[in-house]
Amino acid sequence: MATRHFLTLLDLSPDELRHLIQRGIAIKNGLKTHGPTYTPFANRTLAMIFEKSSTRTRVSFETAMAQFGGHALFLSPRDTQLGRGEPIADTARVLAEMVDAVMIRTFSHQSLETYAAASEVPVINALTDDYHPCQLLADVMTWTELRGSVRGRTAVWIGDGNNMCHSWINAARQFDFRLRICCPEGYEPRQDILDAAGDRVTLLHDPQQAVVDADLITTDVWASMGQEEEQARREADFAGFQVTEAMLDRAADDVLFLHCLPAHRGEEISETLLDDPRAVVWQEAGNRLHAQKALLEFLLLGRVDG
Ligand code: CP
Ligand code: NVA
Repeated sequence: MATRHFLTLLDLSPDELRHLIQRGIAIKNGLKTHGPTYTPFANRTLAMIFEKSSTRTRVSFETAMAQFGGHALFLSPRDTQLGRGEPIADTARVLAEMVDAVMIRTFSHQSLETYAAASEVPVINALTDDYHPCQLLADVMTWTELRGSVRGRTAVWIGDGNNMCHSWINAARQFDFRLRICCPEGYEPRQDILDAAGDRVTLLHDPQQAVVDADLITTDVWASMGQEEEQARREADFAGFQVTEAMLDRAADDVLFLHCLPAHRGEEISETLLDDPRAVVWQEAGNRLHAQKALLEFLLLGRVDG
């Protein structure tokens, strides 16, 4: 059977994704009840290639492998041959001879695709300039845990049409919810990704209007990793796009607020938004661990229903 990869949310069927969400919740409950006694990955290894910084992604994947009885290897271009020009496809072939799966955080999504095409073991996208699908597993898991099925509900994305926004669009397609995207002019998501989602995803430019009656509101930094030099210009261009408690007041009474983190208080969110009970970002961050355990189990062992 062909190796399964997880480069975007479109690599799994809606049914498989729904399974991962339920499985993540079950794995989380099992951990709470029994401790880390479920160890299906004895002697299995995950290679983790990081070309950008990370706190949550590194710690969640490394902890997932440890709690599952396996091992994770942190690899940086600074101290591997990747940083000295060894071709990506050669690295992919070599690592597949040794490890059971590979997780990559890099800049170009095309580089990730090149890697995956040469890899005989599963490859997981841990963030590229274009997508961050692992974050969406944790986000949909959090939304589902707290509010039940997300089908037909309304999420609102406020801010940059970036990698996270693209993955929210794919999530709206796969989990069948409505998504309003609200960005400043010139910061819209990619048109092809938007078009493929059909009319369940709409594009707006007025945040006050976009959040009305929303079931969920989410945002992200205005300048992503690799865009640090654009920070000042973006701060000016995103004026009026800060998510505040008053904006949440315009949404549904039981609205939730998510942010993939790290957050910049006083920029994309108000200084105090994360202290509001409607903000569930710590649970969201913790769910990276459980959702990715479900993903690893799926990719390494096939669908597990236990
Ligand atoms: N949300 C997220 O991916 O965080 P890190 O950059 O810390 O991994
Ligand atoms: N859009 C952000 C997400 C960080 C998890 C970035 O790419 O830097």
